[in-house]
This record gives sequence, C-alpha cells and structure tokens, in this order.
Amino acid sequence: MNISIIGGGAWGTTLAQVLADNHNSVLIRDVNNNFVEKINNEHVHPSFAVSIPSSIKATLDLKEAVDFSDYLILCVPTKVIRKVISEITNLSTSSKVFINVSKGIEPETGYLVSDIINEVVPKDKLEGYVVLSGPSHAEELIFRKFTTLVSASLDLNLATKVQEIFANRYLRVYTSKDVRGVETGGAIKNAIAVVSGIASGLGLGENARAALICRGMREIVKIILALGGTKETAYGLSGLGDLIVTASSLNSRNFTAGLKIGQGQTVDEALNSSTQTVEGVRTIIAAYQIGHKYNIDLPIINASYLLVTGKNDLKTSVNLLLNRELKEE
Ligand SMILES: NC(=O)c1ccc[n+]([C@@H]2O[C@H](COP(=O)([O-])OP(=O)(O)OC[C@H]3O[C@@H](n4cnc5c(N)ncnc54)[C@H](O)[C@@H]3O)[C@@H](O)[C@H]2O)c1
Repeated sequence: MNISIIGGGAWGTTLAQVLADNHNSVLIRDVNNNFVEKINNEHVHPSFAVSIPSSIKATLDLKEAVDFSDYLILCVPTKVIRKVISEITNLSTSSKVFINVSKGIEPETGYLVSDIINEVVPKDKLEGYVVLSGPSHAEELIFRKFTTLVSASLDLNLATKVQEIFANRYLRVYTSKDVRGVETGGAIKNAIAVVSGIASGLGLGENARAALICRGMREIVKIILALGGTKETAYGLSGLGDLIVTASSLNSRNFTAGLKIGQGQTVDEALNSSTQTVEGVRTIIAAYQIGHKYNIDLPIINASYLLVTGKNDLKTSVNLLLNRELKEE
C-alpha cells in the first residue's frame, strides 16, 4: 500500500526502510532539500551514511505527500507538530489515519499528540489515530537489528492493521488500546534520560544514575496514571522498555544532551550542538506543568525544571535532590 511519512530525519527514514522492506510504496515529506535530494538521488539515509532502498521517494511538497496516501506517519519534532497537523488538515480532501511516532508533550497546554489531533482535525478528516512507540534507536533499526514497538489505538482493529503493516522478521509489534499511556511513557522517558545524562556528566557514578533512573520511573508512572494511562503500560515496552534503552545510551540524543549539561555546557549550548531533535528538555518543562496541574510530587522533574529554566544552577539542583527528607521507599 501507499504510505506517507511526514518528517524524514533519523527515525522517519528508518521507518521508511521498514515499510519498503514490507513491500509498501513510501513517500517521505521533509522541509530539508538536502535530505530530499539524498533520498531521491543518492538513495542514502540523510542522518546515517547507509544505503536505503531506491524505491523510497521524498518530496518537499506537503500536498503531494498528503494526496499520496490516507495513512500519514507523523515524525517531526513535537515543537512543530501542531503546525504540521493543521497544514495537513487544510490540504487534505479525504479522511486520514494519523500514525504518530514523535515523542513529546506540548509544554504550553500539556497536550499529548492525540489531544492536538482531536483539537485540530475535524471529525470528517480523521479516519483514526495510532501511536507507535517503544524502545527503538534508529541507529540500530536501520541495520535491521531486532526491535519491538507498541501500536496503540482506541480502535483495536486499526492498531492491528498498523501492527501488520510494520511487523516483519526484525520488527515485532504489539497492540494496545492504551493510547494515553503509550504516548506519555514515550515522551516522559526523554526527560528522565536528560537527567540521567546530567548525572553521568557530573561524574556522580553508576549508583546515583541507577537511583535516578529508578526513582525517575516512579515519576513516569505517576504522570501516566494522572493522564489516564495504566500501570501495565508504564511498565511495558513504551514506558520502562523505552526508559532502559534511552537513559544510559550515547545513541540517545537526550542522554547526550544531559551529559553535556552535566559537563558544564549551558542548556542552549547542549541543545544547539546537535542539528537533530532533542525532545527531553521541552518535555521536562511539560512534565513540570503536568505535576503542578495534577498536584503530583515529582522531585526529579521539579529539580531538573529549575535547572533547565535557569532558576537554579547545577549544584543547587543536585543538592535539592540529595537533601530531601528521608522516607519509606
Ligand atoms: N531517532 C530515533 O531513534 C527515534 C526513535 C523513536 C522516536 N523518535 C522520535 O521521532 C521524532 C523525530 O525524531 P528524529 O530522530 O527523526 O529527528 P530528526 O531531527 O533526525 O528529524 C526530524 C525531521 O523533521 C524534519 N522537519 C522539521 N520540520 C518539519 C516540517 N514542518 N515538515 C516536515 N518535516 C519537518 C526535519 O527536517 C528533520 O528531517 C522525535 O519526536 C523523536 O523523539 C526518534
């Protein structure tokens, strides 16, 4: 079948290869002309020096991508996702299935991508919504290394359809109905990955990093429950699974950005040193707002919020966590 991917960076083009391997026709839309030319003329992945199937095509033209398929994969940084969804809606003449693979929460509203879709896309242009998320580095999936994802939709038939579209011998896809849990886990783990990177950059050691990841998982669970997801999802692939793969890996841009902050770079320096998307810092701000709104105690998120917004320096933020009142686990 025809499938359009909106956003052909590291993850979008890697998923394009999965879909091409599964005999689909894929059209990627990106705003970066170099990326489009690399895919069309050199058949090379724009983020990694790896050949990709020549059947994958790319375009700068959003209308062409919207008309190409009724299945649209959203793979842009979440800071532009509202704008992209509304552009798609204005251009589309038929009802679309949106498959979101971006991982973030809108800080201004606390909205998940599904909330933005429900707000922006009129019912007659929305065929369905699926979030596809899980422990997955593009750097590994591009080499067809074994990976798992969860396809979640309120419509289980649609989740199953997306499972069938993506699954193959190296990609195992599970289904779920817990859209909010899957989206929230995939987003918040990036915030904890930044914190874990900061701890590593500070040289706090592996004991401290394990403690931060584990206590960070508690905060992920609290946020998932507050936003309407389940504990099972929190401890599944798209929560704990994704936290494990992200929170101590140099393949993770979020962990790496944290590492640089811990080593003394400012937040802006750490974010600007990569042209690729780092969702975690924005997600710390979103998670802080959610904690405030739902009155949930999130000590790691709160300390990192004060740091990334420049209200505290590194030392004060660390002391804030170390000097907390002793309590039961
Ligand atoms: N890299 C991974 O391993 C991975 C895995 C799972 C999920 N994700 C998520 O996928 C999302 C994208 O991550 P990435 O790693 O591909 O980032 P990236 O920075 O490599 O790619 C983002 C792409 O979006 C493009 N873009 C920006 N604005 C656009 C627009 N208006 N229309 C179309 N394209 C636009 C950019 O040109 C770029 O090619 C993030 O939310 C990330 O958390 C990434």
